[in-house]
Amino acid sequence: MKTVIISNRLPVKIIEDNNEYTFIPSEGGLATGLGDVYKNGNSIWIGWPGIEVPEERQQEVIEKLAKLNLYPVFLTQDEINLYYEGFSNEVLWPVFHYLVTYAHYEQSYWDCYKSVNDKFAKAALQVLSETDKIWIQDYQLLLLSGILRKKIPHSTIGFFQHIPFPSYEIFRLIPWRDELLNGMLGADLIGFHTYDDVRHFLSTTTRLLPVNSSANVLSSSDRQVVVEAFPMGIDFDKFSNLTGQDEVQKEIEDFRTGKENMKVILSIDRLDYSKGILERLKAIELLLQIHPEYIGKFELYMIVVPSRDTVPQYRDLREQIDQFVGNLNARYRSVNWIPINYFYRSYPIEVLSALYATADICLVTPMRDGMNLVSKEYVASRNNNDGVLILSEMAGASKELTDALIVNPNNLGDIMEAIVVALKMPLEEQQTRMKAMRDIAEKFNVKHWVNNFILRLNEVKDSQNSLL
Ligand code: UDP
Ligand code: G6P
Repeated sequence: MKTVIISNRLPVKIIEDNNEYTFIPSEGGLATGLGDVYKNGNSIWIGWPGIEVPEERQQEVIEKLAKLNLYPVFLTQDEINLYYEGFSNEVLWPVFHYLVTYAHYEQSYWDCYKSVNDKFAKAALQVLSETDKIWIQDYQLLLLSGILRKKIPHSTIGFFQHIPFPSYEIFRLIPWRDELLNGMLGADLIGFHTYDDVRHFLSTTTRLLPVNSSANVLSSSDRQVVVEAFPMGIDFDKFSNLTGQDEVQKEIEDFRTGKENMKVILSIDRLDYSKGILERLKAIELLLQIHPEYIGKFELYMIVVPSRDTVPQYRDLREQIDQFVGNLNARYRSVNWIPINYFYRSYPIEVLSALYATADICLVTPMRDGMNLVSKEYVASRNNNDGVLILSEMAGASKELTDALIVNPNNLGDIMEAIVVALKMPLEEQQTRMKAMRDIAEKFNVKHWVNNFILRLNEVKDSQNSLL
């Protein structure tokens, strides 16, 4: 009996260079969070390797990935355009993050979303055996539980959504809302990061479909589905131990040299409008305007990882960030100081670890975020218990990391004031807050999250079976 994880993106992606394929880790919370855990258990993972692979090279990819227990689903360029960029990232992503004006409700996106969910089902059926546990991940595959339930009615299916579930008033805007919910209800257990997401899902489902809810159980004429919150954690020990590695120590030393009296503020995100990157930059601008005494006293290191850059809103945002950073730096820089150090690329985990370990302040200000693992990775990397986390109240992580300086990301003054408080915070207060957050991130780590979800899935299935 194995666990079959199915997500749109595999934890590794293909990079093509000179006709050579190399496999590198994927970015994003889903891949980094689950990426290590699946290796330790009896699991396989089915998903897309990140680029269009021509038919004649598919066998090569299948064989390479099989060594890692990974099973590719190949998408054509049309499917990438319509299912991934289109329905997943131009309909579901903006609506679920409350940016409804960004949504394009194209029929062709929806038709392709359905057919690609079917494609994933076919791929899964090739490797599934009757007793396996199926664990489907995220918004790109909302229909998959329903499709698999029809094909293998007694299977055990869990579904976890890594992004927020919006309130009914927002979700109801989607033309294909009932089909999406029916697809999700094919699962036995549905998980979200926070209780608010659970609440929204329960009320939306009972208002749109002929189902009843009692506490967190949804009942239709023939089935029951349990809906619960499972806040995702990180591999705390990995991040905590990384900072002691020689390679990371060397990076920390290089990074710190010459900055002994400089406060370092760090932000790390995929380039995404949900992450509040522009608003964060505006808060820094406000700080420089209102508190000129801080000019030359801090530097922001801003890592922005390229993401979905063929989707128009992502492309536009990149231009806006480039412009804003250029403009701000040009106005405030001096010969030996620059306020924003902006890096548009991804980094290996050793560099991220060094940045986490070095930064005096980590600035995490998404407009909406299902969880946000970066905030937890920062906390786990602070072995001396110092450093200050500034965290948006719109991130799922804010429900757990309550000792952060919590801000409303729409309130630029609020972010600016939090930065001032952080710059001045006495070590003792930093340590009290950081220690409390580290305890939480350590206890509710990613293994705890996986075990909890799978245990609950088993319980739900057992109780269903006992009713048969
Ligand atoms: N990350 C990465 N490479 C980078 C920068 C970040 O792999 O160069 C990882 C980071 O360590 C974190 C994930 O990307 O685990 C981002 O997850 P988060 O939940 O914060 O946001 P998401 O991208 O999933 O919306
Ligand atoms: C978020 C989503 C994931 C997604 C990741 C990276 O974490 O919840 O499902 O994989 O972003 O986005 P991408 O579109 O590159 O897979």
